[in-house]
Amino acid sequence: PGQGAGSRLPFATITPVDKTVDAFTVPAGYTWSPIIRWGDPLFADAPAFDLQRQTPAAQKRQFGYNNDYTDIIVDQGSGRTGILVCNQEYVNPGIMFPATTDPAQQARNRAIARAAHGMSVVELRRRRKGQPWTYTVGGRRNRRIDADTTFAFDGPAAGSALLRTVEHRDGRTTRGTIGNCSGGTTPWGTVLSGEENFNGYFRTPGTSTEDKRYGLADKPSTYGWEADEKRWDTRNPGYENASNHFGWIVEIDPQNPGSRPVKHTAMGRFKHEGANVRVDDRGRVVAYMGDDERFDYLYKFVSRRTISRNRAENLGLLSDGDLFVAKFRGDSPAPQIDGSGTLPADGQFDGTGMWLPLVLHGRSMVDGMSVDEVLVHTRLAADKVGATKMDRCEDVQPNPLTGRVYVACTNNTDRGKAGKAGPDEANPRNANKDGHIVEISESRNRADATTFTWNLLLVCGDPADPTTQTYFAGFPKDKVSPISCPDNVAFDSGGNLWISTDGAPSTIGYNDGLFKVALGGRERGRVQQFLSVPTEAETCGPVIHDREGMVYVAVQHPGEEGSFADQHSFFPDYVRPGTTPRRGQVAAPRPSVVQVYRR
Ligand code: FEO
Ligand code: CA
Ligand code: CA
Ligand code: CA
Repeated sequence: PGQGAGSRLPFATITPVDKTVDAFTVPAGYTWSPIIRWGDPLFADAPAFDLQRQTPAAQKRQFGYNNDYTDIIVDQGSGRTGILVCNQEYVNPGIMFPATTDPAQQARNRAIARAAHGMSVVELRRRRKGQPWTYTVGGRRNRRIDADTTFAFDGPAAGSALLRTVEHRDGRTTRGTIGNCSGGTTPWGTVLSGEENFNGYFRTPGTSTEDKRYGLADKPSTYGWEADEKRWDTRNPGYENASNHFGWIVEIDPQNPGSRPVKHTAMGRFKHEGANVRVDDRGRVVAYMGDDERFDYLYKFVSRRTISRNRAENLGLLSDGDLFVAKFRGDSPAPQIDGSGTLPADGQFDGTGMWLPLVLHGRSMVDGMSVDEVLVHTRLAADKVGATKMDRCEDVQPNPLTGRVYVACTNNTDRGKAGKAGPDEANPRNANKDGHIVEISESRNRADATTFTWNLLLVCGDPADPTTQTYFAGFPKDKVSPISCPDNVAFDSGGNLWISTDGAPSTIGYNDGLFKVALGGRERGRVQQFLSVPTEAETCGPVIHDREGMVYVAVQHPGEEGSFADQHSFFPDYVRPGTTPRRGQVAAPRPSVVQVYRR
């Protein structure tokens, strides 16, 4: 059993699980159960989930699909109540619905899909700390946010001409949130969520520089919603700016179900993975953000105001501040970076970096672009200032104990391809299929620093594979779990890093999972696998409440390569076709939030 410094969660590392296995696997002495599954009713008037008779009205009142960012916020006091807040990123219609050629049923399925997107807030209760939670149907704070919910824009670009459409003539409101990937819970108790792959939801002219840079194209959208609502096709007169309504960081107050959620224009627009806030010892507030696209960038937002004891004032912190993008410099000469991950002569991938300003003190720092343009077309602004092209920044999170920032670069198989950028010391491998973790130390540990130092904590992969170069901060490679495609990160109370993965089946042949990594002392770089998710699923969340012996993950897209008639996963109900389901169970995979606890 490997117990990291200060961690209250001893466990025996699990053996990696083959990618075909449809099981949720935990260490010896632990067990698991779902807290809530796709389709579970949130409100007293919501029907029980009926796989064969789904409706848009029911889905609007039930837990959505493909849970990603997750937090469990325990109420002050007895610790026996709390809330679960969860993003619902996207849908897999091929395994959710029976195949149909009926246009009316197809339209109904699309409406169900829109209702299955967004976010959920659900009240929880338990007998005592360390015991499993039960969610409360009809809890006071229960809430569904979906592709129809009204949002307010705030910050400098709110009201901009770039945000006006015939449905939102003042450019100050919009409808819905989609592609909500990871996120972060703020020190003032709100939840941030990143709108990531919004481009696939639109059909556009696809001809402008902006459309091309954001992957918006003149082809049918992934889900075909343009057949139902004009706003998903920006070729429609009056809807030219409709795609500018997505790609933002949204903030919701989960304690106040009547509050209007906000999209923060000050934090820029790109394929936001998520945002995580740190408050430094002078009260300065910073949010770190990744743009999850090959060769895109790492950003940070620094609030103009410092944190307040008044919660209401903090709700405006992310509306006003400076936006920066990262530039990395290696400290080793280029010939030592051979593109295969061989260590530079000084023994590690490391160097210095700068935060290049895009918006500073309310002014654009980018030639030829207004503040509105920088915030709405942030990728173009970052291109102009020469930011470092990264290997797909996913979750970016500061360690609450040290202030160091951890960047999960999930992979970039295009690195080094003809016409694409080659390796640099911060992204050192060509055809990087396994990803890496960057560790950043802000100068003088200040949130608003404009310079930093950095090193690679992990260069991921299966260390047993002689064709893959790996690095585990110098820890012996024969004593670590294989790990590939890091995505979401979290910390335990001892400051250990926990990493969930997305993509390991196709790179190292194992199901995705959750891994603990020690960051300090002799154990630094030791990777230990804690759990494994079922076949074709991604591990999201995660939430580590080690003082209570509890771990939570969101199991996203189990069995996603199957079809309704040929399901590849039956997680978590495990009702096989032909057997009689118990009440509330179905013979299909259901994305679910899972709790892991001691037996
Ligand atoms: Fe939805 Fe970047 O993962
Ligand atoms: Ca170096
Ligand atoms: Ca992700
Ligand atoms: Ca995280």
